[in-house]
Amino acid sequence: MPVAATTVLGGMGVAAACLPFIGSLLPSERARAAGAPVEVDIGRLEDGMLLTVEWQGKPAWIVRRTRDMLRLLPDNERRLADPGSEVSRQPAYCRNSARSIEPEVFVCVGICTHLGCVPTYRPEVAPADLDRDWRGGFHCPCHGSTFDLAGRVFRNVPAPTNLVIPRHRYAARSRLVIGTDDEA
Ligand code: FES
Repeated sequence: MPVAATTVLGGMGVAAACLPFIGSLLPSERARAAGAPVEVDIGRLEDGMLLTVEWQGKPAWIVRRTRDMLRLLPDNERRLADPGSEVSRQPAYCRNSARSIEPEVFVCVGICTHLGCVPTYRPEVAPADLDRDWRGGFHCPCHGSTFDLAGRVFRNVPAPTNLVIPRHRYAARSRLVIGTDDEA
């Protein structure tokens, strides 16, 4: 299954182009620009791929989940710490079993909820992972926390909650805006 390198489309290009401009802004304007929503073209994001864009100085991930990936999600639930995302952070419209607006497109902040390391994307797993009943998702190398492909944390790992999902919306079928859910 192909895994995209942490690629930059749309939003990051815009962010990079704006840097000299941001440097000349007043502090309040600079802060607003740094936290501005990022628009991303996901039209070329293939099945199983992960795309990373920068949002508020953090990695935001977009994964195009396959049907097989989605089929695995219910199987994980009995082993998750917060399967219903009761104590985790996500917009209300992502508090569902897939933690997303569109089931196949998963968006989250790529930072571990334990101490802030960046987990790795592991859509496929090694035999050792299967032995411990982990079918893939995200793995944090710092202290071994594992998350499923909806960013839900497994029990008995250091991370206390699921990966955070930022506010987002679709500006068009293949254009995602991360950081806001307000209509323009
Ligand atoms: S920072 Fe991820 S497990 Fe500790």
